[in-house]
Amino acid sequence: MTNSFGASARPPIGITALGMYVPARVVPNAAYEAHLDTTAEWIESRTGIRERRFAAEHEYTSDVGVAAVRDLLSRDPDGLREVDAVICATISPDALMPSTAALIASQVGLGGAAAFDLSTACSGFVYGLSVAQGMILAGVARRVLVVGAEALSKVVDQTDRNTAILFGDGAGAAVVGPVPGGYGLQEFVMGADGTGGSSLYLRCAAPQLPGGFQMGHSVGMNGREVFKFAVRVLGDSANEVLNKSHLTSGDVDWVIPHQANIRIIEAACGRFGVPMSKTVVNVHRYGNTSSATVPLALREAIDDGRVRDGQQLLLVAFGGGLSWAACTLKWWAGAPSLVARTAQTSEEEAAEVGA
Ligand code: ACO
Repeated sequence: MTNSFGASARPPIGITALGMYVPARVVPNAAYEAHLDTTAEWIESRTGIRERRFAAEHEYTSDVGVAAVRDLLSRDPDGLREVDAVICATISPDALMPSTAALIASQVGLGGAAAFDLSTACSGFVYGLSVAQGMILAGVARRVLVVGAEALSKVVDQTDRNTAILFGDGAGAAVVGPVPGGYGLQEFVMGADGTGGSSLYLRCAAPQLPGGFQMGHSVGMNGREVFKFAVRVLGDSANEVLNKSHLTSGDVDWVIPHQANIRIIEAACGRFGVPMSKTVVNVHRYGNTSSATVPLALREAIDDGRVRDGQQLLLVAFGGGLSWAACTLKWWAGAPSLVARTAQTSEEEAAEVGA
């Protein structure tokens, strides 16, 4: 679907602050060998994953989301200024009600802001950027906080070797708001196909009140079907959003893909013609953190100096639904949390010396 109202005619909206968090507990592949019929070597060779992070016993999705927002604030104390709405993309919410977004908002000083959860699994963060842009353009929010947060270790069956090895916990938090002309979000392509819903699902038992909410404790997955779907949809949606943006794969400085499996990323990049040397990958350290993978990869690529001001980014994700989302983004690095922390620290030190 194309709109008659091109990107260049819209006020520029982009990411104005960014933070991330992963729990301290590292779970290496070898940890599964004791209780599952698997090997560390099998996991790494089939998925690229070497380790993932697990939340602590009493650490839930709202907690990891709050920690990502606090990281954002530690980099930019003014980063939440003018935020009128909070979106939490998650498939492992603390509860169906209240929303995890409301729980996060109230703990980071945004009580009273509009808050709601968004459920499109691993494509949720990119969906959230689009919803945030729409809310700002519609005049209902000045800035929107989009959090991709998961505590998947709580909802994945740790005795199922097909799924247990894939998933980890973590969160990324981005503020979406006005950026200077020529920067920011360009075009989006999003979709969903519920006929594929049974290939990847997380059952949700009825709420047991009072006393809490019983999530299903297993992700159901047809790995081969999801693999084929993922390669096709990542390739097609990336090509479509590049065409819509009047860009070619040669214009892309960095692809920030959903991190589910290194083989999926390699095959998809081959389909839209961007080499792996221009693709940000951290699946080996965090596994699949669903809605958190894209902001975690973006944050790390800024911190190690790969993503810099004015570069052309392509964000692309797929997930349960089945769903997909891709967007083009001209990176703006004009706010304190949008540069590497080392660069930020040396600028602050220089300012202090100069003062
Ligand atoms: N250890 C050892 N053997 C295993 C394991 C394991 N952990 N898991 C599965 N196997 C076995 C299978 O049972 C199968 O055995 P069989 O041949 O006797 O039936 C064999 O290994 C090969 O199975 P395949 O499914 O062909 O293995 P494949 O190479 O495709 O890898 C995988 C499986 C990693 C799951 C892959 O299909 C994949 O990554 N699929 C996509 C999954 C995904 O991305 N899910 C998340 C989506 S995002 C979201 O929204 C949550």
